Amino acid sequence: MMGRVRVALFGASGLLGWTINQGLKLRGFQTIPYRLHDDKNSVFESFRFLDLDDGSKVTRELLDLWPDAIVNCAAISSPDVVNQDPKAARRINVSSAQKLAEISTHLGARFIHISSDMVFGGRDEPYRSTDTPCPLNEYGNQKLEAEKKVLFAADENVVVLRLTLMNGNSPRANRSPHERIFESIQKGMPLTLFDDEYRQPCSADNAASVVVELLERPNLNGLFHWAGNDVLTRFELGLRILERFGLSANLIKRGSLKDFSTEAGKRPSRLTFELSPLLGKIKTKPQGIEEQVEGLEVPHRHYKWYRETAEDPSKYVLRL
Ligand SMILES: NC(=O)c1ccc[n+]([C@@H]2O[C@H](COP(=O)([O-])OP(=O)(O)OC[C@H]3O[C@@H](n4cnc5c(N)ncnc54)[C@H](OP(=O)(O)O)[C@@H]3O)[C@@H](O)[C@H]2O)c1
Repeated sequence: MMGRVRVALFGASGLLGWTINQGLKLRGFQTIPYRLHDDKNSVFESFRFLDLDDGSKVTRELLDLWPDAIVNCAAISSPDVVNQDPKAARRINVSSAQKLAEISTHLGARFIHISSDMVFGGRDEPYRSTDTPCPLNEYGNQKLEAEKKVLFAADENVVVLRLTLMNGNSPRANRSPHERIFESIQKGMPLTLFDDEYRQPCSADNAASVVVELLERPNLNGLFHWAGNDVLTRFELGLRILERFGLSANLIKRGSLKDFSTEAGKRPSRLTFELSPLLGKIKTKPQGIEEQVEGLEVPHRHYKWYRETAEDPSKYVLRL
């Protein structure tokens, strides 16, 4: 096991960062978790606040703490939010990522930056990490630009890890596909999920395990892909989620990408990944969709409603 390696973890209040923080602690790392918003949520009690937009504060903080590694999960991670204010999103998605890479180099710290399958256009899949990206929307553009800047600023002791659509239990229970489905059902507005948008989802737990291994294996550097084992449409994923919880299939709607249009860009219809060479180099194995949905939890605020509404509530046992 590693000694008390100190890891500054940005985006620790998000879906992936939260899960990585738990994984790192289990493996004996000392984490310094960061968030942006103070929403008085007690689960974040020990987290530090830092706005990555405040470059000089970020530099001061990291020079003071001098961590052994920096993991960057902070992002404006919703393409819709990016489209609302691309300039503001770029400051986090691109400029902050570059800044963290530069500071890591200065500190001699290992840097792990998280990117996305959305850097690809969805035509020539399964994509290898050596394939030429071609984003279709502003979020993808920003993630790609960040990758280039990060790899340029930190040319060794760095990993850019591209991930796919993520299942998992986020600390605010509002980020992952099943949490969004629960939210929409509660509001009486069934979510429309595209049945011609193919993805290869991974779980936050499994991706976190990869990140922990990458921190333990400083000889693995560069750009890597990670995903789950199965390819399915967003609608099929929705059905698997409803089935897992014993909920009616009528609670989501089937949609088509053809009905989706936005001035700010398109959505790739198929995004799948070739997992080598990382697959052959680490112990973590990709998960199938069955295992991923098995690990999902009913958000606490919906639990009472769930017990009263589900066709078969015995499918889910509350874990305390
Ligand atoms: N979720 C997915 O399906 C998916 C798929 C592929 C790749 N990714 C990538 O994986 C990474 C993590 O995604 P996620 O879904 O875990 O994100 P998330 O749940 O949206 O969390 C984003 C995190 O970034 C923090 N943040 C945002 N703006 C900040 C700022 N100005 N200063 C400091 N922190 C800031 C947030 O802090 P607050 O909570 O305090 O606001 C939060 O901790 C991202 O790079 C994303 O692009 C995600």
